[in-house]
Order: sequence, then C-alpha cells, then structure tokens
Amino acid sequence: MVSELLLLDKSYTGTIQVSKYTLMPTITNPLTLASHANPYPHYRALRDLAALGYDPELQLWIASSAEVVQAILSSEVFVVRPPAEKIPSNIRSGNAAEVFGYLVRMNEGVQHHIPKQVLLTSLRSINFSQHQSAAKELFQGLAGNFPLQSSAHINAWQMAFPVSLVAHLCGFSDDDLAQVVDWTHDFVSCLSPLSTNEQIQNAHAAARELQTCFMELLQTSTASPLSFLAGLQAEAGTKGWHNSDATIANLIGLLSQTYEATAGLIGNSIVNLHTQPQLREQLVAQPERITDFIAEVVRYDPPVQNTRRFVTQDIEIAGQHLRAGEAVLLLLAAANRDPQVNQDPETFQLQRDDRCSFTFSHARHQCPGQALAFSMTALALSHVISHSTAEQWQGLEWQYRPSLNGRIPLFREAYIPEGK
Ligand code: HEM
Repeated sequence: MVSELLLLDKSYTGTIQVSKYTLMPTITNPLTLASHANPYPHYRALRDLAALGYDPELQLWIASSAEVVQAILSSEVFVVRPPAEKIPSNIRSGNAAEVFGYLVRMNEGVQHHIPKQVLLTSLRSINFSQHQSAAKELFQGLAGNFPLQSSAHINAWQMAFPVSLVAHLCGFSDDDLAQVVDWTHDFVSCLSPLSTNEQIQNAHAAARELQTCFMELLQTSTASPLSFLAGLQAEAGTKGWHNSDATIANLIGLLSQTYEATAGLIGNSIVNLHTQPQLREQLVAQPERITDFIAEVVRYDPPVQNTRRFVTQDIEIAGQHLRAGEAVLLLLAAANRDPQVNQDPETFQLQRDDRCSFTFSHARHQCPGQALAFSMTALALSHVISHSTAEQWQGLEWQYRPSLNGRIPLFREAYIPEGK
C-alpha cells in the first residue's frame, strides 16, 4: 500500500504540521485525490494524522475531520475568495471575469445574501414533476442508442443531460440546448488555476454569448408567468435585487454549478452500480429506493471532493493557530467518511439513519440545487437501469477526468483481446 501511496505524485515530498511542534511526513498530495482511483484510504490516513494540519509545500491548511470541516464552513472568519483577489488573476478582465465577480458562490455579505435567497426560493419552486416528460424526452434523445453501445456516448450524455435540462427550465429552446452545453463547457474551463490562455479566451467568448441569450430570455420571460425565469425575476423584485447583470451572471452560474457536479453524480452512481451488482438488483426490485441510493453515493463517492476557504482574521481552531490570508482545503469527501458522524463509514449502505454528508457543503454557502440534482440523477439512473442489463455492463472501465476537486468518471470500453 505504501508504494502505491507514494506513486500518487512523485514530485510531492510533503510533510504536514500536525501540532504546533510536530511535523510528520505525509503519504499523499491531497490535491491529487479527487481524481485518484481510490482516494478513500488516503483520506483516512490524512484524518488519522491530523483533523487540521498545515502542508508547507502546498501552503495550505488541510481539514479532514467532520467536526473541523463543519466548524470552518459555519464560521464567518472563513470566506470563499481571498479578500485581495475577488476574481482569479488568470481571468483578469473580460466577460468571464464579469460573471465570476457576481456569482453568489464567490461572494459574501450583502452581495451573497440577497441573491442567494432569490436563487433558493426560485429553485425550490421548480415543480420537477411538471417537467418530467420533457426531461425524459430530452434524456432519451441524448441517450440515443444507450445501453452502453459506446462509452463515448455515455461520457457525452452524462455531461450534456443535466445542463441541458437546467437550460430547458430557464427557457432555452430545444434547438439551442447543444450550443448552451458547449458554452457552459467553455465557461467552466476557465475556473481552474490550471486553465490555459486559449481556454480563458474561449470562456470570455462563451460568457458573452450566454449573457446575450439570458438578456433576451429575461426580456421575454414575462410572456410565461409560470416560467422559472419569470418566477426568479418576481422574487428578485420582492427582495429588492435589481441588478440585471448580477441576475444574468447567476443564471450562468446555475448552468456552471450544474455541469460537472451533476455529471459526476450520475457517473459515480453508474460506477457504484457496476462495482456492487447486488445494489443494481435491489434497485430493479425496489425502484423507490433510488433516492436512498443517490444519497449514499453522495456521501460515499462524491462528485465534489473538496472546497476551499480563506482566513480573514487570526483564529485558533482544533488546537491550530491560523493566520489571516492563509487558505484551507476542506476535504468534504474525508469528512463524509468520518466515523464520528457516520457509523461504519467505509461501507456503502442504502439505509442509514442520520446520514451525514458535506458534499453539498454546509451553512451559508450550502448548495441550493441539491433537490434538482437528485431529481435529474434519479431520472438518468432509472433510464439506465431499465434500458440495460448487468451483462452489458461487464466490459465497462473508467478513469477520472483530471480535476483538483471534481470526481467525474470518464468511461472507456475494456480491451478485449482478439479471439476472446
Ligand atoms: C451533484 C450535484 C451538485 C453538487 C455535488 C453540488 C455541490 C455544491 C457545493 C459543494 C457548493 C458550495 C461550495 C462551497 O461551500 O465552497 C455548491 C454551491 C452552489 N450550487 Fe451546487 N452542487 C450540485 C448541483 C447544483 C445544481 C443542479 C445547481 C443549480 C441548478 C447548483 C447551484 C449551486 C449554487 C448557486 C451554489 C452557490 C451557493 C452559495 O455559494 O451560496 N448546484 N454546490
């Protein structure tokens, strides 16, 4: 096991400061774990070393226990962006930067509070069952010849379906959906510190197109008073949020927040059905248990594995002294498997009393799209389960898309030697 751990990142020679005086050799680079084949023993090892430790090589605090993750997410001292760099320096100016600067996900205080309330209320008012048949049609159209005719096909629909559905809810016509998926893809590609110059230029162009489309949709949404956008505008008016640039930015934010995370939840659900065929049989016999299944995938093998916070003033937490300006990597996936909050955390259990999960975050930045993500994933999985057999899944293999925080499987066909 140790050699596998060391192989994770050969350039990483890390240590972690587990107390004021003790520096321990670390076994793994936490930034490589989201896309690792099996990160969970590594998370356990990190949690056993220190609930909150400092990695001098990464210049990051690493929080891995449920108690510390929850305390940091709940504290006003920890914010979502470095106060001196509200917009990442690699995006600088341009349309993507303009959108980024308004996102509730990236703001605190009044800039966060009122828009968050508007989004929460509007997302909660979506009656998913009203859109079920459109969603099914959309899904079947994207799934085409599924089951498992080609892994490239599964990869494409798991990415396209959730964001197409959210675009449909926002009022885009069916003809525009593929284009919206492409723009969303281009926009999110600028959000990583690893983004190339070309990706950043494409993101500015995609943001500009999305801004124009949403502007037109907002101007026509009053035609249908029951539409999601009309509801959102009415709610914004009630709450006194009159900034149309900010509204449009946050609508683009809904697409980008949906995109990779929900694709990852669908993909990780497929992975767990494949690796635990008895679960698949159970869901065939009891389709009503699909929500329990998704909730356990969310806890056990989450599509979002970590998030970050920035310290605004010196603070003592878990026996460590954190200074203003420092950054913390919160290992949500490690906290989900903390035995202090979930009994027998390393086992996948459909039935769990008081299941505790940090995958959708916690406190003021908690995800407002959780219910929608569950509904979309349930729809995708019901289709997958009823249109494929366990035998058709046998050749399925996957690795994970390179990412610092997302866990999204990229499926491929197993290599079958000639003559077999
Ligand atoms: C499986 C799917 C999803 C996962 C795992 C997920 C996870 C998360 C997490 C972890 C955060 C907060 C990050 C932090 O605290 O640092 C977040 C925020 C957010 N999510 Fe999601 N999300 C998902 C799907 C969605 C969907 C479908 C929508 C909307 C259509 C959405 C909208 C948002 C928004 C607007 C925020 C910002 C909230 C705030 O900062 O107050 N998410 N999500």
